[in-house]
Amino acid sequence: MSNIVSSQAADHSKYGGVIPELASRLHQQSIVPIVELALEKAGIQMNTLTAIACTRGPGLMGALLVGYNFAKGLSLALSIPLIGVDHIQAHILAHFIEEPKPDFPFLCLVVSGGHTSLYHCVSPLELNVIGTTLDDAAGEAFDKTAKMLGLDYPGGPLVDQWASKGTRAKYAFPIPSVPGYNFSFSGLKTAILYFLQENVLKEKDFRENNMADICLSVQDTIIKIVLQKLEKAALELGITNIALAGGVSANSGLRLAVQELCENRNWKAFIPDFQYCTDNAAMIACAAAFNFRQGRADRLNDAPYSRGNQTN
Ligand code: KG4
Ligand code: ZN
Repeated sequence: MSNIVSSQAADHSKYGGVIPELASRLHQQSIVPIVELALEKAGIQMNTLTAIACTRGPGLMGALLVGYNFAKGLSLALSIPLIGVDHIQAHILAHFIEEPKPDFPFLCLVVSGGHTSLYHCVSPLELNVIGTTLDDAAGEAFDKTAKMLGLDYPGGPLVDQWASKGTRAKYAFPIPSVPGYNFSFSGLKTAILYFLQENVLKEKDFRENNMADICLSVQDTIIKIVLQKLEKAALELGITNIALAGGVSANSGLRLAVQELCENRNWKAFIPDFQYCTDNAAMIACAAAFNFRQGRADRLNDAPYSRGNQTN
């Protein structure tokens, strides 16, 4: 009914990354106006709500505490259940906000700023993680590359924009060999750092002169790393419904690559609408609805969690 997104990107960009204490304070400042705006846009009164949902984790504790305790307060004041939602579960269940919805079982590649995992999705509340990153997340790899290139935070969308103007396969970066369905991006980060240092020594404006080609080569490498595991899992598990979720699923190169992979293999690709890729309220509400129908609700002494998840 309304899906308001309050971005803090401009507040954090001058620091080149998220400052946890600042994020927490900005959440505190925004929460009341955002809730009021969401109700106004939806055209409903607070006292007509039947339940309240919010993210319980994983994430930055200071920001989670603001949202979770605010929702807890509302739930007590209105005598309605509080549904604390797992952030990753919500990214996956964002596929059920609008058509086309994936049929179970499906594989979901969750790529965000904090997570890179592969999920075997059996039912809405049975989402089993089969692989995860051993170090950085895919979004972090994008953001750190952007930072090394002197681009703003969050750099993922900027790398995407530059890459669209680049020449393919200009530079080669290593693809790590990681067991099972797991991922790793720390080697790539180091390789990019050394690559840039070496070339800037030879040519002072190397980054600026080759921005588009560097961005495309890095983006293609990140895509190769995640798609290789996605394809392997789909083949080994015999799953033909493939979904993409999380902020990095807004990446145009990744969207195209998943579509192409699925066309070649005769699989079905489910790629979320842009507004449901990066963090948003609709995905939390959608995941909460599945939990609510199962009678799940949080208790007064439940607390947010910064790491891990409830889905495995
Ligand atoms: O899911 P999300 O909104 O927040 C987390 O839960 O982390 O994901 C944010 C991440 C950031 O790292 C951002 O750079 C990345 O998603 N991102 C992109 C694009 N749009 C957002 N990365 C690459 N290309 C994009 N177009
Ligand atoms: Zn997210």
